[in-house]
Amino acid sequence: MLSYRHAFHAGNHADVIKHLTQALILEALSKKAKPYCYIDTHAGGVLYDLDSEEAQKTGEAEQGICQVIDHPLLPQSYRQVIIDYNSDGVLQVYPGSPAVAQAFQREQDHLILMELHNNEVANVKRETRYWNNTSVHHRDSFEGLPAILPPTPRRGLVLIDPSYEIKTDYTKTAKAVKNAYKRWATGIYAVWYPILVDDKSRILLDELEQSGIRRILIAEISREAGTDETFGMIGSGMLLVNPPYQLDEQLQEILPELAQAMLGPDAKASVRWLVGE
Ligand SMILES: C[S@@+](CC[C@H](N)C(=O)[O-])C[C@H]1O[C@@H](n2cnc3c(N)ncnc32)[C@H](O)[C@@H]1O
Repeated sequence: MLSYRHAFHAGNHADVIKHLTQALILEALSKKAKPYCYIDTHAGGVLYDLDSEEAQKTGEAEQGICQVIDHPLLPQSYRQVIIDYNSDGVLQVYPGSPAVAQAFQREQDHLILMELHNNEVANVKRETRYWNNTSVHHRDSFEGLPAILPPTPRRGLVLIDPSYEIKTDYTKTAKAVKNAYKRWATGIYAVWYPILVDDKSRILLDELEQSGIRRILIAEISREAGTDETFGMIGSGMLLVNPPYQLDEQLQEILPELAQAMLGPDAKASVRWLVGE
């Protein structure tokens, strides 16, 4: 039974680091005319109304995208996707990962979106009904991803963005990356993970560090946990396999200031190679 609903969290600091990284990767893939395939294993609801009851209840976008939408270091291509969904100048619609992908998609590129939740997949089907070259799969992506790899064309990005509702999702995600890499070693993989007070997401990093996969970059933003804070998310990270050339330098330049703008003046960013060449 899935209870996670991304509508409560859309546009928060985690979405910002995830979607700006996604945008920088898609920008890099778009530099060559060759087609690419974008695979989103956990598509979510595509578009989120920041005035909705869910978004208003948590107010997470206020501390996330609203703090950085005008920041000079926010990548312009990502900002432009948001501006295009809010043409009257008021930030009300937040575009999720499939919408970010569609903004970069050219005629020759293919999008594959997977979502397990019945209501959410209905949103995906509705929002993407006029998109070209887009397939929607209503299935468990931990089973579905290996079945479609390697994709045609054999160039592209897999975004893996689980909700980590249960602890085993960390090992399942690590296994999914290992299996996917065996089938498609030249693909780019971008895995979002939370940074929690209790540190349990480290399982994912430890497993992938020991997997034999080369070229794994880690980019994180986080704040210090309060002295009496025993659970909860204090930041998040992106684990990137085969990142495009110079993505490490781009993230190194922009994340420290964006982290402070969203998570407070003591927030930190770190960009490092978990496994090198
Ligand atoms: C964090 S949200 C995705 C947000 C989206 N990627 C974005 O950035 O806009 C995670 C989504 O994964 C879905 N989900 C959970 N387990 C799944 C699974 N095994 N396969 C596919 N989707 C799953 C949830 O219903 C939820 O909509």
